[in-house]
Amino acid sequence: MQTGKGDLAYIRAFEDTDLESVVELANSSLTEYYSFDLLYDLSAQWRDGFLVYVFRDSTVAFLAGSKYTATEARVLLLAVTKSFRRMGIGKALMDDFMKRCRLLGLMSLRLEVRTSNKSAIDFYRKLGFVVISTLNHYYTDSSDAYVMWRML
Ligand code: ACO
Repeated sequence: MQTGKGDLAYIRAFEDTDLESVVELANSSLTEYYSFDLLYDLSAQWRDGFLVYVFRDSTVAFLAGSKYTATEARVLLLAVTKSFRRMGIGKALMDDFMKRCRLLGLMSLRLEVRTSNKSAIDFYRKLGFVVISTLNHYYTDSSDAYVMWRML
Protein backbone atom coordinates (compact mmCIF):
# COMPACT_ATOMS: atom_id res chain seq x y z
CA MET A 1 0.00 0.00 0.00
CA GLN A 2 1.14 3.54 -0.74
CA THR A 3 0.29 6.35 1.65
CA GLY A 4 0.16 9.72 -0.12
CA LYS A 5 -2.66 11.40 -2.01
CA GLY A 6 -2.10 10.82 -5.71
CA ASP A 7 -1.12 7.21 -5.02
CA LEU A 8 -3.21 4.24 -6.12
CA ALA A 9 -4.30 3.46 -2.55
CA TYR A 10 -4.17 5.54 0.59
CA ILE A 11 -5.85 6.28 3.91
CA ARG A 12 -7.18 9.73 4.79
CA ALA A 13 -9.70 11.37 7.11
CA PHE A 14 -13.33 11.34 5.98
CA GLU A 15 -14.51 14.12 3.67
CA ASP A 16 -18.17 15.03 3.03
CA THR A 17 -18.00 13.56 -0.48
CA ASP A 18 -17.33 10.12 1.07
CA LEU A 19 -20.72 10.02 2.80
CA GLU A 20 -22.65 8.18 0.09
CA SER A 21 -20.02 5.45 -0.33
CA VAL A 22 -19.64 5.06 3.43
CA VAL A 23 -23.41 4.70 3.95
CA GLU A 24 -23.55 2.12 1.16
CA LEU A 25 -20.57 0.23 2.55
CA ALA A 26 -21.91 0.27 6.13
CA ASN A 27 -25.32 -1.05 5.11
CA SER A 28 -23.95 -3.73 2.79
CA SER A 29 -21.30 -5.00 5.25
CA LEU A 30 -22.74 -4.51 8.72
CA THR A 31 -25.93 -5.91 10.19
CA GLU A 32 -27.50 -2.82 11.81
CA TYR A 33 -29.04 -0.02 9.71
CA TYR A 34 -26.95 3.18 9.43
CA SER A 35 -28.62 6.34 8.12
CA PHE A 36 -26.91 9.23 6.32
CA ASP A 37 -27.58 11.45 9.34
CA LEU A 38 -26.09 9.03 11.83
CA LEU A 39 -22.91 8.50 9.82
CA TYR A 40 -22.55 12.20 9.12
CA ASP A 41 -22.92 12.98 12.84
CA LEU A 42 -20.28 10.38 13.69
CA SER A 43 -17.89 11.85 11.15
CA ALA A 44 -18.45 15.34 12.52
CA GLN A 45 -17.67 14.33 16.11
CA TRP A 46 -14.04 13.40 15.35
CA ARG A 47 -12.96 13.90 11.72
CA ASP A 48 -9.42 12.59 12.29
CA GLY A 49 -10.86 9.47 13.90
CA PHE A 50 -13.12 8.70 10.93
CA LEU A 51 -10.88 7.19 8.25
CA VAL A 52 -11.46 6.00 4.73
CA TYR A 53 -9.36 3.76 2.53
CA VAL A 54 -9.30 5.00 -1.05
CA PHE A 55 -8.35 2.75 -3.96
CA ARG A 56 -8.29 4.24 -7.47
CA ASP A 57 -10.50 7.15 -6.34
CA SER A 58 -13.11 4.82 -4.77
CA THR A 59 -13.78 4.53 -1.04
CA VAL A 60 -13.45 0.80 -0.43
CA ALA A 61 -13.29 0.71 3.38
CA PHE A 62 -13.85 2.90 6.40
CA LEU A 63 -13.30 3.02 10.14
CA ALA A 64 -15.36 5.21 12.47
CA GLY A 65 -13.74 5.83 15.85
CA SER A 66 -14.64 7.85 18.90
CA LYS A 67 -13.07 8.99 22.14
CA TYR A 68 -14.71 6.86 24.82
CA THR A 69 -12.99 8.38 27.87
CA ALA A 70 -10.03 10.75 28.36
CA THR A 71 -7.64 7.79 27.90
CA GLU A 72 -9.63 5.29 25.88
CA ALA A 73 -10.72 5.26 22.22
CA ARG A 74 -13.39 3.11 20.68
CA VAL A 75 -13.85 1.62 17.21
CA LEU A 76 -17.53 2.13 16.45
CA LEU A 77 -17.62 0.76 12.90
CA LEU A 78 -15.18 -0.91 10.53
CA ALA A 79 -16.04 -2.31 7.11
CA VAL A 80 -14.11 -3.37 4.03
CA THR A 81 -15.85 -3.96 0.66
CA LYS A 82 -16.28 -7.71 0.25
CA SER A 83 -14.08 -8.06 -2.83
CA PHE A 84 -11.25 -6.21 -1.04
CA ARG A 85 -11.15 -8.35 2.11
CA ARG A 86 -8.10 -10.36 3.24
CA MET A 87 -5.75 -7.90 1.54
CA GLY A 88 -4.59 -6.15 4.71
CA ILE A 89 -6.92 -3.14 4.34
CA GLY A 90 -8.72 -3.62 7.67
CA LYS A 91 -5.39 -3.96 9.45
CA ALA A 92 -4.00 -0.88 7.68
CA LEU A 93 -7.02 1.19 8.84
CA MET A 94 -6.69 -0.10 12.41
CA ASP A 95 -2.92 0.57 12.46
CA ASP A 96 -3.45 4.12 11.19
CA PHE A 97 -6.25 4.74 13.71
CA MET A 98 -4.17 3.40 16.60
CA LYS A 99 -1.25 5.62 15.58
CA ARG A 100 -3.53 8.68 15.64
CA CYS A 101 -4.86 7.65 19.06
CA ARG A 102 -1.36 7.23 20.50
CA LEU A 103 -0.36 10.68 19.23
CA LEU A 104 -3.28 12.08 21.26
CA GLY A 105 -2.10 10.28 24.39
CA LEU A 106 -4.94 7.73 24.35
CA MET A 107 -3.84 4.53 26.07
CA SER A 108 -6.35 1.81 25.23
CA LEU A 109 -8.92 0.84 22.63
CA ARG A 110 -12.26 -0.96 22.88
CA LEU A 111 -14.98 -2.12 20.52
CA GLU A 112 -18.10 -4.24 20.41
CA VAL A 113 -18.56 -7.11 17.98
CA ARG A 114 -21.36 -9.61 17.48
CA THR A 115 -20.58 -12.87 19.26
CA SER A 116 -21.55 -14.61 15.97
CA ASN A 117 -19.13 -12.57 13.81
CA LYS A 118 -16.31 -15.10 13.86
CA SER A 119 -14.24 -13.52 11.07
CA ALA A 120 -14.22 -10.11 12.76
CA ILE A 121 -13.43 -11.67 16.15
CA ASP A 122 -10.49 -13.57 14.57
CA PHE A 123 -9.38 -10.33 12.89
CA TYR A 124 -9.40 -8.37 16.16
CA ARG A 125 -7.70 -11.22 18.04
CA LYS A 126 -4.93 -11.19 15.42
CA LEU A 127 -4.52 -7.47 16.18
CA GLY A 128 -4.04 -8.14 19.89
CA PHE A 129 -7.56 -7.60 21.21
CA VAL A 130 -9.00 -9.81 23.95
CA VAL A 131 -12.63 -10.35 24.95
CA ILE A 132 -13.24 -8.64 28.29
CA SER A 133 -17.03 -9.00 28.64
CA THR A 134 -20.30 -9.91 26.93
CA LEU A 135 -23.21 -7.51 26.46
CA ASN A 136 -26.48 -9.43 26.28
CA HIS A 137 -29.13 -8.28 23.77
CA TYR A 138 -26.84 -5.46 22.62
CA TYR A 139 -28.05 -5.24 18.99
CA THR A 140 -31.50 -4.33 17.68
CA ASP A 141 -32.17 -7.98 16.79
CA SER A 142 -31.30 -8.84 20.40
CA SER A 143 -27.98 -10.53 19.53
CA ASP A 144 -25.15 -10.39 22.05
CA ALA A 145 -21.87 -8.51 21.68
CA TYR A 146 -18.38 -9.15 22.98
CA VAL A 147 -16.48 -6.16 24.25
CA MET A 148 -12.91 -6.49 22.94
CA TRP A 149 -10.04 -4.42 24.29
CA ARG A 150 -6.32 -3.79 23.90
CA MET A 151 -3.65 -1.42 25.13
CA LEU A 152 -2.36 1.12 22.62
N1 ACO B 1 -11.23 -15.17 9.09
C1 ACO B 1 -10.16 -15.38 9.91
N2 ACO B 1 -9.19 -14.44 10.12
C2 ACO B 1 -9.34 -13.26 9.50
C3 ACO B 1 -10.43 -12.98 8.63
C4 ACO B 1 -11.40 -14.00 8.45
N3 ACO B 1 -12.47 -13.83 7.63
N4 ACO B 1 -10.31 -11.72 8.15
C5 ACO B 1 -9.17 -11.23 8.66
N5 ACO B 1 -8.58 -12.15 9.48
C6 ACO B 1 -7.33 -12.03 10.23
C7 ACO B 1 -6.21 -12.74 9.49
O1 ACO B 1 -5.26 -13.19 10.44
C8 ACO B 1 -5.66 -11.64 8.61
O2 ACO B 1 -4.32 -11.85 8.23
P1 ACO B 1 -4.00 -12.83 6.97
O3 ACO B 1 -4.95 -12.47 5.85
O4 ACO B 1 -2.57 -12.51 6.66
O5 ACO B 1 -4.24 -14.22 7.47
C9 ACO B 1 -5.73 -10.43 9.54
O6 ACO B 1 -6.94 -10.63 10.29
C10 ACO B 1 -5.77 -9.09 8.82
O7 ACO B 1 -6.81 -9.15 7.86
P2 ACO B 1 -7.17 -7.96 6.86
O8 ACO B 1 -6.94 -8.42 5.46
O9 ACO B 1 -6.50 -6.70 7.28
O10 ACO B 1 -8.75 -7.85 7.14
P3 ACO B 1 -9.85 -7.23 6.16
O11 ACO B 1 -9.31 -6.12 5.36
O12 ACO B 1 -10.50 -8.35 5.41
O13 ACO B 1 -10.91 -6.63 7.21
C11 ACO B 1 -12.93 -7.00 8.46
C12 ACO B 1 -11.45 -7.42 8.26
C13 ACO B 1 -13.01 -5.51 8.72
C14 ACO B 1 -13.47 -7.77 9.68
C15 ACO B 1 -13.72 -7.40 7.16
O14 ACO B 1 -13.79 -8.81 7.08
C16 ACO B 1 -15.14 -6.83 7.08
O15 ACO B 1 -15.36 -5.73 6.60
N6 ACO B 1 -16.13 -7.64 7.54
C17 ACO B 1 -17.55 -7.24 7.45
C18 ACO B 1 -17.88 -6.11 8.38
C19 ACO B 1 -17.53 -6.42 9.82
O16 ACO B 1 -17.80 -7.51 10.34
N7 ACO B 1 -16.91 -5.44 10.50
C20 ACO B 1 -16.53 -5.52 11.92
C21 ACO B 1 -17.75 -5.34 12.77
S1 ACO B 1 -17.31 -4.95 14.47
C22 ACO B 1 -17.10 -3.26 14.43
O17 ACO B 1 -17.36 -2.63 13.46
C23 ACO B 1 -16.50 -2.64 15.67
